[in-house]
Amino acid sequence: MASKHSIKRNFKVFVVLFSLWLSYGSQAAFAQASAVPTDAETIKAGESLFKQNCKACHSVQSRVVGPALKNVYDRKDLPWIYAFVKNPVKVIKSGDEYAVNLFEEYNQIEMTGFPSFTDEEIGSILAYVKDQTDNAVVAEPATADLKADPAASPSPYVNAIIIGGLVVLVILLIVLAMIISKLRSYLSNTELSEEDQEYIAKPDGIFATLRNKALIGIVIAVVTAVVTKATIDALFTIGVQQGYAPTQPIKYSHKVHAGDYKIDCNYCHTGVRKSKNANIPSPNICMNCHSAIDKGANTGTEEIQKIYDAVENNTPIEWVRVHNLPDLAYFNHSQHVEVGKVACQTCHGPVEEMEVVKQYANLTMGWCINCHRDTPLNTKGNGYYDKLVEIHEGKGEFTVAENGGLDCAKCHY
Ligand code: HEC
Ligand code: HEC
Ligand code: HEC
Ligand code: HEC
Ligand code: HEC
Ligand code: HEC
Repeated sequence: MASKHSIKRNFKVFVVLFSLWLSYGSQAAFAQASAVPTDAETIKAGESLFKQNCKACHSVQSRVVGPALKNVYDRKDLPWIYAFVKNPVKVIKSGDEYAVNLFEEYNQIEMTGFPSFTDEEIGSILAYVKDQTDNAVVAEPATADLKADPAASPSPYVNAIIIGGLVVLVILLIVLAMIISKLRSYLSNTELSEEDQEYIAKPDGIFATLRNKALIGIVIAVVTAVVTKATIDALFTIGVQQGYAPTQPIKYSHKVHAGDYKIDCNYCHTGVRKSKNANIPSPNICMNCHSAIDKGANTGTEEIQKIYDAVENNTPIEWVRVHNLPDLAYFNHSQHVEVGKVACQTCHGPVEEMEVVKQYANLTMGWCINCHRDTPLNTKGNGYYDKLVEIHEGKGEFTVAENGGLDCAKCHY
């Protein structure tokens, strides 16, 4: 039979062991979550990284192309997550069971790797994910900002009001003229004093002015000038398709992809940095994501289904070409985008805000030439220009035009 003393001691040992176990257990469950930073600055940095790099495929709360990132730090430890984000293919190829299963579950879609990210940067994304999980608010529907803001486009209404006003004015004038002529004929049939009759016969204000020869001359001159100017302007725009925005076979939206989901232009227009042509993506590129996303917030399944039809029937999607220079002109994308570092938006406008792409610039020869006259060569870090810069030391900036950018043969075959 144990003494009172030893029972007490056993109890002490038990308490110590129990509390050790408790603290160990809770640490194991929350170790990762508590290692995720929670300060506002890191969360903000993570938010912008997430939106620029991950949002196309991930959401915090729900499955998109990849898994919901909610609580991912409870599923795997941080070093694993860092390694996976930097190079997912490597982790999967290494035979990591969790990664392989995930890859299978997600239809073998390869997540893009982010080898340039540091552990801190990935940690900040997790901080943002954790913040979104803990302070979960009902997500705003992604469509909210897609709806046209009526205040932002008042022009149709303004035009309608102006035209309506003009029509009313013309009708009023006609009615007034009719009243005048009725009154005149009524009065001429009544007995009036000589003085009154003279007064009525006298041409009144408006009609007198209208019969004034000088005024008629001026009006004719002005009208002729306006018509001539309009005709000349119209002749200059023959073949110019500025603003052209054809309806496309699939309601593909740059605003959704390049705007909301920040997918890089280069992801789809694969040739733009290395060749003459930018390339329009094949349905296979769409399928990288749409094998998993079969529904859009605005168009439901209808438009995305057309991608599946194209892939199944092996038929190309017949996109309507928007920009088209005549054959006599030569334009090269890589020359401008890669060498000249000209942003797409300079020539194509804010494509990431367009539901339907439209031709933003007029693409005339004058447009090319003017930019070549105004734009300095981008010689920094370009070995090709080192010699040139050396020779012209101290002459200030060197425009494209001065480098031969106005030679007919550069743009014409
Ligand atoms: C092109 C789409 C795509 C992009 C972009 C993308 N991911 Fe993924 N991600 C996936 C897919 C798909 C999976 C599922 C695993 C697989 O199929 O390889 C995944 C899995 C993950 C996992 C593991 C999730 C889990 O439940 O264990 C993490 C963590 C992750 N991604 C983080 C990121 C982060 C952070 C970014 C941005 C820096 C990012 N991903 C960008 C598609 C993407
Ligand atoms: C997810 C794929 C994808 C991304 C990302 C993308 N585009 Fe496109 N782009 C397309 C498709 C498909 C078309 C053809 C259909 C159309 O004209 O809307 C197109 C057409 C265009 C056209 C008109 C081509 C013509 O016919 O003359 C321009 C210009 C363009 N994209 C510029 C951009 C720019 C700039 C970006 C980045 C801000 C971008 N695109 C990002 C898929 C993409
Ligand atoms: C990198 C991933 C990615 C690629 C590549 C991609 N999409 Fe998408 N697409 C998305 C995402 C994300 C959505 C938004 C889904 C939603 O509304 O929830 C989307 C939505 C859509 C929608 C529905 C839009 C709406 O709001 O209803 C259409 C149509 C569509 N994409 C067509 C295309 C076509 C055509 C291509 C190929 C030229 C393409 N996508 C390539 C990610 C992609
Ligand atoms: C210096 C002006 C300029 C810049 C910068 C520019 N483009 Fe273009 N882009 C054009 C012209 C001009 C055409 C018409 C080319 C033709 O018809 O031969 C065009 C055509 C296109 C087309 C239609 C397909 C093709 O290859 O002809 C796409 C897509 C496109 N551009 C995407 C882009 C993207 C994406 C960027 C940025 C990475 C970009 N462009 C930068 C002027 C520009
Ligand atoms: C937004 C400004 C801009 C517009 C618009 C533009 N270019 Fe250029 N272009 C440049 C720049 C910058 C360079 C210089 C690239 C470099 O550093 O070599 C260049 C270079 C060139 C060159 C090579 C010149 C040489 O000396 O080797 C050709 C050819 C050319 N552009 C053709 C065109 C054509 C054709 C158009 C109209 C369809 C056009 N560009 C419109 C900015 C522009
Ligand atoms: C920077 C590029 C560039 C240079 C330099 C250039 N052109 Fe052009 N030119 C174009 C483009 C682009 C077009 C097509 C524009 C259009 O269809 O409106 C064009 C069109 C023309 C046309 C046809 C006009 C028509 O209506 O069909 C002629 C002729 C022409 N250029 C002559 C010249 C001559 C001569 C020179 C040298 C003094 C020259 N170009 C230099 C870009 C250039």
